[in-house]
Amino acid sequence: MSYPYQIKSFEAYKEAYQKSIQDPESFWGEIASHFTWRKKWDKVLEWNFTEPRVEWFKGGKLNITENCLDRHLETKSNHPAIIWEPNAPDENNRVLTYRKLHEKVCQFAHVLKNNGVKKGDRVCIYMGMIPELAIAVLACARIGAIHSVVFGGFSAQSIADRLEDAQATFIVTCDGAYRGAKDIPLKSVIDDALIGNKTIKRVIVATRTRTPVSMIKGRDVWWEDEMKQVEEKGVTFIEAEEMDAEDPLFILYTSGSTGKPKGVVHSVGGYMVYTNYTFVNVFQYQTGQVHFCTADIGWITGHSYIVYGPLSAGATSLLFEGVPTWPDAGRFWDIVDKYCVNILYTAPTAIRSLMGFGLGPLQGKNLSSLKVLGTVGEPINEEAWHWYDEHVGKRKCPIVDTWWQTETGGCLISNLAGITPAKPGWATLPMPGLEMVLVDENGKEVIQQGDETISGNLCIKSPWPSILRTTYGDHERCRTNYFATYENMYFTGDGALKDKDGFFRITGRVDDVLNVSGHRIGTAEVENAINMHAGVVESAVVGYPHDIKGQGIYAYIIYQGSHAQDTHGTGDLVRRDILQTVTRIIGAIAKPDKIQFVSGLPKTRSGKIMRRILRKIAEGETENLGDTSTLLDPGVVDEIKKGRL
Ligand code: WT7
Repeated sequence: MSYPYQIKSFEAYKEAYQKSIQDPESFWGEIASHFTWRKKWDKVLEWNFTEPRVEWFKGGKLNITENCLDRHLETKSNHPAIIWEPNAPDENNRVLTYRKLHEKVCQFAHVLKNNGVKKGDRVCIYMGMIPELAIAVLACARIGAIHSVVFGGFSAQSIADRLEDAQATFIVTCDGAYRGAKDIPLKSVIDDALIGNKTIKRVIVATRTRTPVSMIKGRDVWWEDEMKQVEEKGVTFIEAEEMDAEDPLFILYTSGSTGKPKGVVHSVGGYMVYTNYTFVNVFQYQTGQVHFCTADIGWITGHSYIVYGPLSAGATSLLFEGVPTWPDAGRFWDIVDKYCVNILYTAPTAIRSLMGFGLGPLQGKNLSSLKVLGTVGEPINEEAWHWYDEHVGKRKCPIVDTWWQTETGGCLISNLAGITPAKPGWATLPMPGLEMVLVDENGKEVIQQGDETISGNLCIKSPWPSILRTTYGDHERCRTNYFATYENMYFTGDGALKDKDGFFRITGRVDDVLNVSGHRIGTAEVENAINMHAGVVESAVVGYPHDIKGQGIYAYIIYQGSHAQDTHGTGDLVRRDILQTVTRIIGAIAKPDKIQFVSGLPKTRSGKIMRRILRKIAEGETENLGDTSTLLDPGVVDEIKKGRL
């Protein structure tokens, strides 16, 4: 498969960019014409950011799985689509060719139908990183069901909230999942999530860890039993559901500045075109290469650059079940050598954590198959960038620093590997079609004068094909969150710099959202969870710089309970109980790194917590706290400073 829209020079990038801004409809229409459509669109783009309403390829009919699977069968049926590397290095791996993956997806699509799943139904998928996860995702897309993948690290409570919000009627899960030395009992978490649930009709359980599970009659069925029924009939195909380009493809929940995660909705046509376009251009994918994205499919990175982007391009996508540091910190390098990986796409937090093990784990590893390296999820510090460049890429692999979000569906700012210049710590240039602007706090666009570097809040003036369409069940929330801060612009929530060459450097979130190890967590969400703990009166959560995680979570807590067991009076047991509460309510990824007990929080006379002060103290900047004269009780600031951890 060739990619006629693959950009091959810096000049060609500039040309494509110009064209995309001058005439987005003909630009994206041309790219979209290289896909399989049942019916061509009537109009490439219609939009306004006031409602907001964005429609790409309106009137077009297609099924994304025909683009990810069927269209490759003629030339690539025996070509690996998914290579699966299990958690334990000595377990057999699995390779699914395009023919095999197509067959499994069709068969599981039958299973879904046999169990009553219909077009438009919401199917929650809660699984570990096994091929069945990708199969379940694609089978939903095949029949037009809307998948909502929930990362395997989220708690029962988090799942319950997401099931409720999406009004999901089906779940696909596993008995358990392996992650490094851990064995996570997924089905039992689902059982807890379903206590009191009234919408779920069926739970399909795939076998992985053989951990004991309770199967409820009339509700729970085994993946293997259901598949066997289809296989025994010799069925290997199912007609794909014809979808409108603007039909929803999936919901993916992500954190915002309020306590409740939002269900970001992506639609079929635009998402397909954009993830494919960016996959082919950012990574400069060449036919036959092996692409290894280390994210979990439970995050947007996995949706776009393990499943849909690579498969729609007929690529080989490597799916890894485990973690980078198990059984040792050389695991990624072993995988690269084992499969001759050409593209490695990972997160700065993983790089920093591997850096911490020194060069030992890299010894004896070849890594010469690597052609392109990528990073995503958070700003990459220069030290990590250079380590990645020197010790992994051996100074011969371009590094793409890809900035994007759950809401954007695909990479929006990134260099194109080996084609446009890289600059350590900078995501560099916008993708074609992206009108990025920086605005000041009054919403005025910051205009660059001469060679100066400018800074501001990062906004986008017009839509790209994979922009979110709504937040599930609450369109008004979508409007107020993204389109109301600044008139006629999409607001990213990030701050950024722009230099004389037009390169962007993302400086981080400007709202109450934390980025911990590349995972997005709302401070309000963590506070709500902490406040659930008996004895907690009030809490305030802020981020602080963390060597490996990028940001750590710092919680200030007013605690009035007692704990008879806490005999030493250190509060350590109470701290552990609070961590346990957060793990129960959200999941282990949201556990505070530091908990400081305080007698009060710095509040204004109107009762608003002054987070700016708490943030500074957590960052260790206790001297220059700025104006504290509006505080109700300035005394608490001194106490908090003294007790800083
Ligand atoms: C937030 C989005 C994109 C998939 C993974 C995260 C931060 C993401 C970068 C980058 C600096 C980055 C931003 C963004 N972010 N990529 N290359 N450089 N910051 O998706 O969970 O929706 O988080 O991650 O702050 O807003 P997400």
